[in-house]
This record gives sequence, C-alpha cells and structure tokens, in this order.
Amino acid sequence: MTAPLIETIDIGKSYGGVVALRDVSTVVRAGEVTCVLGDNGAGKSTLIKILAGVHRHDRGDLRVEGERVRFDSPRAALDRGIATVYQDLAVVPLMSVWRNFVLGFEPTTGPFRLLDRKAGREIARKALTDMGIEIEDMEQPVGTLSGGQRQCVAIARAVHRGAKVLILDEPTAALGVKQAGVVLKYVVQARERGLGVVLITHNPHHAYPVGDRFLLLERGAVLGAYEKSEIDLSELTRQMAGGAELDALRHELARVIGS
Ligand SMILES: Nc1ncnc2c1ncn2[C@@H]1O[C@H](COP(=O)(O)OP(=O)(O)O)[C@@H](O)[C@H]1O
Ligand SMILES: [Mg+2]
Repeated sequence: MTAPLIETIDIGKSYGGVVALRDVSTVVRAGEVTCVLGDNGAGKSTLIKILAGVHRHDRGDLRVEGERVRFDSPRAALDRGIATVYQDLAVVPLMSVWRNFVLGFEPTTGPFRLLDRKAGREIARKALTDMGIEIEDMEQPVGTLSGGQRQCVAIARAVHRGAKVLILDEPTAALGVKQAGVVLKYVVQARERGLGVVLITHNPHHAYPVGDRFLLLERGAVLGAYEKSEIDLSELTRQMAGGAELDALRHELARVIGS
C-alpha cells in the first residue's frame, strides 16, 4: 500500500502552558475523507493549522507521502499540495468571481504581461462548470454569492490548482440544510477526483454520509478513531453527545463542589 498523503503520529501542540492537542494519530488517504469532529475547544483548528503550515507541532511526527516534515509556513504546505479553505474565507468581497478564482495565478498576455481578462474568465468558467457549479455572471462580486456558493468556489479553486489534500474548516457550520448538502456534494466530488479531504465539523449528520474515517477530539485528546465500517451514524452521534454531556456534568460538579 502506498504511503498516506498525510499521517500524524502522536502529534501534540501547546500554546504557552496550555496543551491544545495531545497524542493525535490519524491518516489522510487519496480518494478518502477524514472527518475531524469535536466541540468548541476540542483542538480541531489547531490540528488543521499544523497540517496547513500555520502552526508548528511540538510533539510527534507529521508525515507527507511518507516523508517526515515540519512546515515553516502555509506556503510550504501549499507547495506539497495541501490546500486549506477556512471558515471565514480569505476572499475579497468586491472582487469578481473569476478574478478571485485566478487570484495569484492570473493568466497574462503580451510583452508587458498584462492580465488576460478573457482567459481568466474562461479558466474560471470552465473549472466551475466541470464541477457542476453554476454561476451565471462571472463578473459578479464574490461578496454577493451565498455562503454555500463561496465554499463551492473555494473547493473548485483548490481542485483546479491541483491540490492533493483539501482541508475544510467547518464548511457547513453557518449554512442551512440545503446549502450544506450542496457543499457536501462537492466534498464528494473532490474525493472522487482522488483528493484526500479533511473535513472539520461538529455535526455527525454532515460527516457520516461523506466520511471514510472519523476522528473524535475532546479537549485536545482523541476520544475515538473509527473507520466507517467500525461505527454507524447513531453510535457516532451518541459519542459526540456523550462528550457534551460529560462536559455539562463536569461543569455542574465544579459548580456544586466549587473546585
Ligand atoms: N493561538 C492560540 N493561543 C492560545 N491558545 C489557543 C490558541 N488557539 C487555540 N487555543 C486553545 O487551544 C484549545 C483548542 O482550540 P482549537 O484548536 O481552536 O479548538 P476547536 O477548533 O476544536 O474549537 C482551546 O483550549 C483554545 O483556547
Ligand atoms: Mg475551530
């Protein structure tokens, strides 16, 4: 079997004295979706920031295609084909859909390498159409798209740029049921194109239908790690709820006992 796109082995990270992540081991394989689940403060964002080169781990190993790495910048992760779509997308709201799509990779024309608007529009239109994303007006500002559409454009852009790994931080959190469904459809498309996807969510109903493995985090530690064949939706939901209930219990005990 070929090496996974990404493997973390007992990875850990502290911020000052606060342990945000401890002993987290998981894999991301081509053509599969690894879901990372957990409540607020579980360590989900810390984990993906390590994968994305935003933060450095201080314990354990990070391997990319079998090679031990320590990214010193988001650029270094991107160069290894790891693309991240953050919840509050780094888009320029007044910029047109196509300009945003080709941002940083603008096609140019002529001896002065001027922006080739026609080619840029065409690249964006074709890439979006290829993934079945319909946006009538390529000149419309990105800010006028719905949250779901923006996520879809960002996913298509990563796929178009040849990402091997696509990391999505709570892409469905702010969306209604219908829009969440559309975004999840493109998660499946990215997977079918052979990307390895890391999907962060706290909703097991969003994770289960598209996920191949599930990593449950709680307070920075692994609460459970399952391949899809090892767990069903109701058990996954129960485990998530169990974490929240235990939190409430701890909180209540602390209040009553006053510790
Ligand atoms: N930049 C930071 N500085 C200090 N503490 C942080 C920082 N980022 C996260 N933390 C802490 O690390 C823990 C995990 O946070 P985070 O990874 O954001 O969790 P999640 O994304 O699951 O909500 C929390 O206790 C949080 O307060
Ligand atoms: Mg987070």
